[in-house]
Amino acid sequence: MIVEHLSLVDFRNYATADLALHRGPNVLVGRNGQGKTNLAEAVVFLATLGSHRVSSDAPMVRDGQEYAIIRARLAHGERRVLVEVQLNKQGSNKARINGSPSKANELPRYAHVVLFAPEDLQIVRGDPSARRRFVDQLLIQRTPRMSSVLADYDRVLKQRNALLKSARARGIKGEGLSTLDVWDDKLVALGSEIIAARQRLAADLQRPVADAYASIAGEDHSPQLDWALSVRGADPEDGVDAPAETSGDIAEMFHAALREKRSNELERGLTLTGPHRDDLILRVRSLPVKGYASHGESWSIALALRLASAELLRSESPAGDPVLILDDVFAELDADRRQRLAALTAGYEQVVVTAAVEEDIPAVLHAHVVRITAGTISDERDPSTGSGTQVGAGSEVQGGSGSETPGAVDSEPDGATVSEVQGTVEQEEATHD
Ligand SMILES: Nc1ncnc2c1ncn2[C@@H]1O[C@H](COP(=O)(O)OP(=O)(O)O)[C@@H](O)[C@H]1O
Ligand SMILES: [Mg+2]
Repeated sequence: MIVEHLSLVDFRNYATADLALHRGPNVLVGRNGQGKTNLAEAVVFLATLGSHRVSSDAPMVRDGQEYAIIRARLAHGERRVLVEVQLNKQGSNKARINGSPSKANELPRYAHVVLFAPEDLQIVRGDPSARRRFVDQLLIQRTPRMSSVLADYDRVLKQRNALLKSARARGIKGEGLSTLDVWDDKLVALGSEIIAARQRLAADLQRPVADAYASIAGEDHSPQLDWALSVRGADPEDGVDAPAETSGDIAEMFHAALREKRSNELERGLTLTGPHRDDLILRVRSLPVKGYASHGESWSIALALRLASAELLRSESPAGDPVLILDDVFAELDADRRQRLAALTAGYEQVVVTAAVEEDIPAVLHAHVVRITAGTISDERDPSTGSGTQVGAGSEVQGGSGSETPGAVDSEPDGATVSEVQGTVEQEEATHD
């Protein structure tokens, strides 16, 4: 699939924005802090119903506003789908698909996106939560239904923790809290489903990660992915290693672990077992990446995880390729990894590359340059690529939305920045070389 058009209202630093995107590579260039990642984040939101930068939606609403709107026209082969979401600071988000109200968690069925970002190094080096977030976002892309399972689990977990805390405050100990059993059942049912889906995902990623690692690093270090499960007695959040692999029914182990830890949980007022305490252990050359891998190896595994995600979605999805967004990653990489990453991604239906320094972008991806300056977008439209349809189609996105706002009509800077807007890619390259 590709994103043909993106429009935003009151999203991050954009009062309104309209961005036409092409099949194949697209480049967004702008100095730091101008709004490149914000555009990437908006597209990612449609695919994962979350941000890669923040865990709540409020920071994405433009300062001083009550809600933000993200709209996109997606092309799945010949089919066009208009997707729209309104992020409300108060209350739940509202979504529309082809103009009709829809559940927000339907959106990931249409939008598939894999984002590469400098923060990806945290998947390798950061806390277990960074790896869980990576996996869960991919899980939602792969099986959109999982977004509600994950959300329900979070809700049950919060309620269970609140109950534990109030029991602690009232001095209840051990088996004295029978209402907990009801919550345990819910926690186990939802949690076991998450654990099973994550295990399947890790197993299915194993091969593509190994292939991608070899391609990006140019060496075979046999990367491995394994879950350290708290239901099996591991406690990655408290730095306790997984014991030797035990097998058994996940739900049964989950219940047993909860029984065993109940008094400890009551003391701490915290749920100590479940997928929220698990960790995806990454190894290269049989050593855990965290704490052992070099900077280059860490980057190789981070990129391999993203490339493998893209391969998996590509091979499974009827919607075709996911959109690849390479947000500011080339500046982080050495020349070899840059070239290899460019070669490995250039064949995708659509690639969006952002950079502060245009020269960092490898030639195969250097096309359709758009300039981003402080929340305004200067689109360099090449007349030969059919800009006429872009404009008409852009208004169609807004028309189809039935939106509450009087239109995120692009106020394209048509006077002051004419040379930028009209400059062709070739001219731009010439100026910068
Ligand atoms: N909710 C918000 N309202 C207004 N501005 C915001 C909001 N969130 C972020 N910004 C602004 O967006 C800018 C960062 O944009 P970003 O896309 O991260 O830049 P970059 O081009 O470096 O990727 C900063 O200037 C920041 O102040
Ligand atoms: Mg950025």
